[in-house]
Amino acid sequence: MRETVGLILAAGEGTRMRSDLVKVLHPLWGRPMVTYPVELCLRLPCKRVLVVICHQAERVQETLAAWPVECLHQGEPKGTAHAVAQAEGALAGFDGTLLVLTGDTPLLREETVRGLIAAHEGHGAEATILTARVEGPAGYGRIIRDRGGKVIRIVEEVEASAKEKRTNEINAGIYSFAAPALFAALRDVPASAVKGEFFLPEVIRVLVEQGSRVEAVAAPDPKEVLGINTRRELTSALGILRERLVAGLLAGGVTLLDPQSVYLDVQVTVGQDTVLYPGVILQGNTSVGERCVLYPGVRLRDTRVAEGVTVLDGSVIVESDIGAGCTIGPYAHLRPGSALADRVKVGNFCELKQVRIGTGSKVPHLSYVGDCEIGADVNVGAGTITCNYDGFTKHRTVIEDGVFVGSNVSLVAPVRIGRGAIIAAGSTITEDIPPGALAFGRSPQVTKPDRAQATRAKLGGSTRGKGSHPR
Ligand code: UD1
Ligand code: CA
Repeated sequence: MRETVGLILAAGEGTRMRSDLVKVLHPLWGRPMVTYPVELCLRLPCKRVLVVICHQAERVQETLAAWPVECLHQGEPKGTAHAVAQAEGALAGFDGTLLVLTGDTPLLREETVRGLIAAHEGHGAEATILTARVEGPAGYGRIIRDRGGKVIRIVEEVEASAKEKRTNEINAGIYSFAAPALFAALRDVPASAVKGEFFLPEVIRVLVEQGSRVEAVAAPDPKEVLGINTRRELTSALGILRERLVAGLLAGGVTLLDPQSVYLDVQVTVGQDTVLYPGVILQGNTSVGERCVLYPGVRLRDTRVAEGVTVLDGSVIVESDIGAGCTIGPYAHLRPGSALADRVKVGNFCELKQVRIGTGSKVPHLSYVGDCEIGADVNVGAGTITCNYDGFTKHRTVIEDGVFVGSNVSLVAPVRIGRGAIIAAGSTITEDIPPGALAFGRSPQVTKPDRAQATRAKLGGSTRGKGSHPR
């Protein structure tokens, strides 16, 4: 491969999407559309990646801030040829291969682009077009060949004759150019008589007329050159990409009991022999280790799950870290910053936020634990609540190793429970407890022998009285 620069056209508004968000920022399985061609260019690798932007330029630039690309402003989007011309200054003196991609063709695969570039360089062509044979060519530019089968031009839908519209060989909008020849020919591209825009496909006609070598390579699978202009096309692309992602999991040894109902983002990884039940959703930078079981309706986002973890039905885990052999749920909510060591159990209807829990500890039932540090081998009884918020500030709770917290305990933060302490059920704990202590934080029980009958008589006049309760 010669020295290659990638140029991605992403300045258009995308009016056909009918959205406040510029088209190239619409997400596909966790990543904005425009990052797909960017990533492809970087993988090739391209020496530089230039992105032409205009509509919502700041948002696009912000989205691409983490990627090593150079953004070029197209003052006013006057068409795809005008967009490409923006790169001329930045590429002065560059005589390698310029790969032109569009920001709205996210399904394109690296192998296909490699094939395009190899054919281009193999032929010593000035331009090589990626094409596809599709069933519904409407909306795409059509490839026009002469009797001998040589490409002579591309005609846009708006300018095509009825006969040309019947051609089902389309321009994918992806090209490989010899940079100097391209920039020279762009100067001769006229504005479209119909739309007033400068169409990049017109440069093909200019190059052919001046005797340059123009080639075409067909994409092996027409699906991958699907251009996204409408919500309908976005939905199709989501479906195609989802199939690929699911196929990747299956190939990696993951069991999906109902692949149609599992959704995952592109960055997600899942280890071998993990089982995903129906309705599992894995988002963002989530990784799930080997031999895990995720039961129905589990959703994980930006979460790392080690091996051998079981997440029971209906649990949601966000921005958290789950150690090996943990059991979570059913119906647990782990909010950002939950970090569980190995073999931790977080059970039914528990909510966690900013919590570190040590090895082997258990929060099995109906608890809220927030802004808290829990050591190893701690048992947190049913219904325990950390009272971490006084209406103004959040306060921390520390529970050291081996503590036993009885059921229905309120821990009023800031508070520290020393190693090995025991807290009696029903306690409200407002002061630190030293290591090894037993703490009661509840009013003493009062029991009056034989008074039940008298109480009933007083309240209801009946010894078996149903009516009112003792007050
Ligand atoms: C384009 C091609 C068409 C091809 C199709 C493949 C042109 C004129 N037509 O049509 O032959 O079949 O792609 O999907 O090129 N853009 C800019 N600046 C502009 C205009 C557009 O950067 O001034 C960007 C857009 O953001 C978009 C890309 O170029 O990412 C393509 O523009 P779009 O309007 O989607 O072109 P199509 O009508 O799809
Ligand atoms: Ca398009």
